[in-house]
Amino acid sequence: MRITAPTETAPGETRVALVPRSATQLVSTGATVAIQAGAGVAAGITNAAYVEVGAEVVADRAALIADADIVVVVRRPDVAFVGQMKRGSVLVGVLEPAGDPAVVRALVDGGVTAFRLEAMPRISRAQDMDVLSSMATLAGYHAAVMAAFRLPRIFPLMMTAAGTITPARALILGAGVAGLQAIATCRRLGAVVEAFDVRPAVRDQVESLGARFVETGVESESQQDTGGYARELEADAQARQHQVLAEHVKESDVVISTAQIPNRKAPILVTADMVASMRPGSVIVDLAAPGGGNCELTKPGEEVDANGVLILGPMNLPAAIPGQASQLYSHNATRFLMQILKDGQVQLDFDDVVISQTCITHDGKPMGEQIEALLQGATA
Ligand code: NAI
Repeated sequence: MRITAPTETAPGETRVALVPRSATQLVSTGATVAIQAGAGVAAGITNAAYVEVGAEVVADRAALIADADIVVVVRRPDVAFVGQMKRGSVLVGVLEPAGDPAVVRALVDGGVTAFRLEAMPRISRAQDMDVLSSMATLAGYHAAVMAAFRLPRIFPLMMTAAGTITPARALILGAGVAGLQAIATCRRLGAVVEAFDVRPAVRDQVESLGARFVETGVESESQQDTGGYARELEADAQARQHQVLAEHVKESDVVISTAQIPNRKAPILVTADMVASMRPGSVIVDLAAPGGGNCELTKPGEEVDANGVLILGPMNLPAAIPGQASQLYSHNATRFLMQILKDGQVQLDFDDVVISQTCITHDGKPMGEQIEALLQGATA
């Protein structure tokens, strides 16, 4: 069994899909692990570190891909990459198939079995394979640090002989994995923190981190679906939410927004009017930028100066922390590989939701209605 990880080629991507510690674990199962030469460099991992744990370092990228039984990636590769893969081989990564149906077609035509780790079910048993959680944890932390760095004032209360400095006020919108980490980090830095989410189940978690839960009257159990994710708000509820949030946004020095709805554009929580009401120098970090953003003025991947209010729309914060992001990602991916490897061979149990929910192509066929529809849409 030959398991390989190529260098990531997406612009700005610094992570590597397998770190040496994972290579050790995989080698101990009898597999051969091969890494493209230089793949770990941006994450601070040398070729020698892989060789030390018994992994091969291969300079020829095409050969690395073509000879693999399993290819592990961080981001979705392109059609040409998939075309180099061997029939019957396996691809594992954050594949986001809707972003490029032509890649799904290439996977089907090439007989590649592909797994998207981002669709891992949110169940206790799968927690150690949950890349969304591990990356969101780092992103939430980093968003708070970015905000603290860009804010032209300090976060904590300071009582000095020269006078008292009041603490900064941070508002966190969306208290899922990233939001809770942003709350914890802002609190540790000394800010007074408020947070809001449509799912009332998170209130206790918000309060246990020392933040105040903002009531808007729209939070309700029915806003949470069976997978634990939020549902989209009705228009009137959205209007009520905006009314309450406007007061809190106005008083905040920092807003970190993380609200997402699966398979939908990110909800707008901070309107242009709300931004205009903020004090100059205030900072918004919009972690929902990849989904369009929670702030009306966010430009994904850019920095916007809206009359002195700085709006950051980072597209890939885990790439700013490449060593630890690679470490967590690689652990998640390796735990998944351990699920599909039995006695040194790939053995798939499609009765297991960990397999059935993540598999997008197998045996020359698209898997599941969503992927079938995606391919039909692409060819229609
Ligand atoms: P997410 O990234 O999809 O969304 C972030 C947050 O935004 C969520 O808390 C969501 O409720 C909130 N949100 C959506 N629309 C909003 C709006 N209009 N206004 C305010 N907030 C809004 O969520 P994430 O962080 O991926 O977590 C989703 C769920 O999965 C949570 O219930 C989490 O506890 C659960 N989870 C379970 C795990 C497990 O059991 N293995 C692991 C990780 C998460």
